Amino acid sequence: MISLSKKYLASIEDLTETEILNLISHAIELKANKGANSNNQTLAGKTLALMFEKPSTRTRLSFETAMFQLGGNTIYLNSNDLQLSRGESIEDTAKTISLYVDCLVARVYSHNTIVELAQNCKIPVINGLSDLYHPCQILADLMTIFEYKKRFKGLVLAWIGDGNNVCNDLLIGCAKMGINVKAAIPQSYEPPEQVIKVVTQESKLKGTDFTIVREPIEAVKNADIVVTDTFVSIGKEREDDKRSSTFIPKYQVNGKLMSYSKDDAIFMHCLPAKRGQEVTSDVIDGNKSVVWDEAENRLHVQKSLLVGLLSY
Ligand code: CP
Ligand code: NVA
Repeated sequence: MISLSKKYLASIEDLTETEILNLISHAIELKANKGANSNNQTLAGKTLALMFEKPSTRTRLSFETAMFQLGGNTIYLNSNDLQLSRGESIEDTAKTISLYVDCLVARVYSHNTIVELAQNCKIPVINGLSDLYHPCQILADLMTIFEYKKRFKGLVLAWIGDGNNVCNDLLIGCAKMGINVKAAIPQSYEPPEQVIKVVTQESKLKGTDFTIVREPIEAVKNADIVVTDTFVSIGKEREDDKRSSTFIPKYQVNGKLMSYSKDDAIFMHCLPAKRGQEVTSDVIDGNKSVVWDEAENRLHVQKSLLVGLLSY
């Protein structure tokens, strides 16, 4: 039985270290038994709604498959098809959704929408990515790190690139689990103050190092884990040219940059990747890359999360 203190997940900050460990350990069991899904009825009779303002491949597929494999049902709601698109308030939408289904995953532009949904829904709300956070991705990332490294404490993770939604939650998640972080982020693209504050506090508490540097080589030197993401997140397309000239070539993860990491280092990327931009194909397809386990683990760890939130 996984018990979670909060009945929503807006950011990885909402989970304690123990809760994260429990979710991952249940997910590892589920992954080990992945051939035996057909009789699992843990969430029989439960329905998960997925309300998406933005496109998705992995988040939608993994949540829908997770519910199916746990005996439950899903309803996909493109937010353009809802009365929300004609001006119905988030509050009224949240109250309505709560009348019919047992849980909501929302992928939104503004993180405030997640907060408002969570405040007004009577059911658990899961952030499936907002402009600020991507907690489900970070659960899968931490699970992948644990699978490959068998521990968290004392590892060194290098983040290369934009201080975006994935970066924000990853920094918080690493600090919580005792992973040291060196983030190479260009000036003006750092995570927001509120994130830096939480990461700094959590790192102090756990006795880990957290530094932001400008030089990718400095971050990657002796790293156990190297992570990047697109520097043009959904909604930032208009800044494409400006961002390209800031991030390429300096912040591109290529073979040369990876050669500074430890011999047994792993490379991670939440996907979708823009090959030839933030990462080169030799790295993402190379022998240090664990991106396909990382993507698969979304399914297992979200099953674990859904069980934690819904099997009461
Ligand atoms: N990593 C991730 O969230 O992928 P999607 O945008 O395809 O859901
Ligand atoms: N930072 C990316 C992550 C996509 C999964 C974005 O927000 O588009």
